[in-house]
Amino acid sequence: MKIKCSKCNKVYKIPDEKLPAGKKYAVQCPACKNRIVIDLQSQPTQKQSLNTSKSVEKKETVLSLGQKRPSGMTLKYGILRSLGDLPAMPHIVQKAQEIIAKPDSNLKELSSLIEIEQAIATRVLKLANSTYYGLSGKVSSVQHASVLLGYKTLGELITVAGISGLMDKNLNGYDLSSEDLWRHSIAVAVGSRIIAGRKDPEFGNEAFFAGLVHDAGKVVLDQHVYERKDDFETFMGNGQHTFLSAEKEILGFDHSEMAFELCQKWQIPSNQSDAIKFHHCPSKSEGNELAYILHLADFIAMMNGYGAGQDSSMYQMEEGTLEFLSLQDKDLNDIQSQVIESVEKMLQEIPSG
Ligand SMILES: [Fe+2]
Ligand SMILES: [Fe+2]
Repeated sequence: MKIKCSKCNKVYKIPDEKLPAGKKYAVQCPACKNRIVIDLQSQPTQKQSLNTSKSVEKKETVLSLGQKRPSGMTLKYGILRSLGDLPAMPHIVQKAQEIIAKPDSNLKELSSLIEIEQAIATRVLKLANSTYYGLSGKVSSVQHASVLLGYKTLGELITVAGISGLMDKNLNGYDLSSEDLWRHSIAVAVGSRIIAGRKDPEFGNEAFFAGLVHDAGKVVLDQHVYERKDDFETFMGNGQHTFLSAEKEILGFDHSEMAFELCQKWQIPSNQSDAIKFHHCPSKSEGNELAYILHLADFIAMMNGYGAGQDSSMYQMEEGTLEFLSLQDKDLNDIQSQVIESVEKMLQEIPSG
């Protein structure tokens, strides 16, 4: 169901299956905190509409269309078998993450890592000169950047520069341009670091990296979603189901599960891989704090226009997320403002590929 906030006029979608039984339902606008009361009696719900013969027909059509192409385990393992053809995590990013994680790492190791990769070095310099890192126009060499920014930040710059080549694809199945996918990835990375940093600044780098690649599963699945576009549209109907539930229904799994498989291939540490796997449903992660952080950062990104294409509509924050992270509604407002400010600064100069 679509709802519109009477105060800030933002429009949201709520999956019908999440609507409670009853005549009236109150939600808080994620943007302006206005209390929105929905009268369910005046709106047809999914349960009601599924009772019509037309909707039942639609569902059957989806299933019969889905049978033409592989789904579930057959599709998943087919994709996994072909993962060798898919882009590998850039070696330089893996190396940079390893160096940062070592307690005795130093600037020299990192700067010599990028000296040999000219394309990465150029992107790192552009980033270092963005207003986000506060060194606008002052950095002329990688060595200079490493001295001014410190090795943790330099490691982050290398990561962003390296990943941008991996996440710069136009995803037609998801209705996502390469620019939008990159903006979303940056917004979730920055948001994750801000949220993690409130608890423990050291946790920030780990959270930032996980945020950057959390939707990498979409890059892998896009072709398969595109081939089944009609099935997706039929299943989602007129706002009856989320894009995420359509992935599960039609493919047999969603992009977070595929991202987890990619993380295994890339040998990303288990805490980050698990968090990415559960970034839509952190309550299933057995208390993985990073999963909650990614989920909240994902929600904030989508609510503030750093969307992720089709699946940003009807996206909801899972109940209990703020409580798990010991955050109040007012903290959410602060985090949102910080995220917007940081993302805009970072995207001013950022190379998207
Ligand atoms: Fe996602
Ligand atoms: Fe996302």
